[in-house]
Amino acid sequence: MYNIAVLPCDGVGPEVIREGLKVMEAAAKVCDVKYNLIHYDLGGEKYLATGEVLPDSVLEELKKVDAIYLGAVGHPEVKPGILERGLLLRLRFELDQYINLRPIKLYPGVETPLKDKGPEDIDFVVVRENTEGLYCGAGGFLRKGSSYEVAIQEMIYTRQGTERCIRYAFELTQKRGKKNTLTLCDKSNVLTYGHDLWQRIFAEAGKDYPDVKRNHVYVDACCMWMVKNPEWFDVIVTCNMFGDIITDLGAMIQGGLGIAAGGNINPEGVSMFEPIHGSAPKYTGRNEINPIAAISAGQMMLEHLGEDKAADLIEQAIIKLLSEGHIKDMAAGKMGLSTSETGDLLVKFIEE
Ligand code: IPM
Ligand code: MN
Repeated sequence: MYNIAVLPCDGVGPEVIREGLKVMEAAAKVCDVKYNLIHYDLGGEKYLATGEVLPDSVLEELKKVDAIYLGAVGHPEVKPGILERGLLLRLRFELDQYINLRPIKLYPGVETPLKDKGPEDIDFVVVRENTEGLYCGAGGFLRKGSSYEVAIQEMIYTRQGTERCIRYAFELTQKRGKKNTLTLCDKSNVLTYGHDLWQRIFAEAGKDYPDVKRNHVYVDACCMWMVKNPEWFDVIVTCNMFGDIITDLGAMIQGGLGIAAGGNINPEGVSMFEPIHGSAPKYTGRNEINPIAAISAGQMMLEHLGEDKAADLIEQAIIKLLSEGHIKDMAAGKMGLSTSETGDLLVKFIEE
């Protein structure tokens, strides 16, 4: 019996999480997986009404669950940064979810903007470091507002934080058993301290994984190769900031944000699964948003819990939905099916 915390939060979050739960329930029923859902009402509305972003008591409760299922964070009336830092990043940091795992997989039947590329070419995973780098929030202002103003935003890496991320990526590459190639994506030609540390750890740790081929790309070239030759990649490991950027590019080549899911993983603790898209306020409550990203996040959560059979059922249903052409377009409002119809159809496929 798993305890799963559900945090739908802002914008379209509640709509896509509703479909995700519906599909998960169908798969769980078939596979006899039992869980208990604990719903939390957090996000922009709650903050505007009470001033609370993430109460310490909630954080303590979240430390005890088996997994967290998150919708989307971001509210048009809340200053950017408050919810992002106070809720999403605080959860990632406090729960020490040091890996952000983002598969980039083009399913058959989904259109990619890349000319002449198909599902056999686009199937890799980005392992993004998730607790350090430019995201650590270190820095400050000097003489703020004056013409002599100084703004500092520090990029901090630790040996331990870098090493645990790189080792996770090596192990994932072995586990995938595809091209057995791990690519380090950095900017070590310019970031000659921080990314020098990444380079050294990559080489040192790599000795423990002699069967994994090591590859290296600078982040700018990585963007180019992801478009030109995505088939070269198997697993990419990278720092927090670069991982944020290249996974939006990755989402586009796999068919759009409507389909891209990710996991914030603490291999020794509590992990959290979410669609990569944001709260998309424009589409809130219209039953038009694509729920597949959130549904895939649910699939990743089941897989993480060790429920491979239930996870696989969801993935097979998604593949059927897409390859049989039930969805016209991945973009919100253009799918040809509503948000809830998409969930219903996946449930039907699972029950069959
Ligand atoms: C993501 C998002 C977040 C990030 C934002 C909302 C803080 O863009 O999950 O990729 O930058 O990590
Ligand atoms: Mn992002």
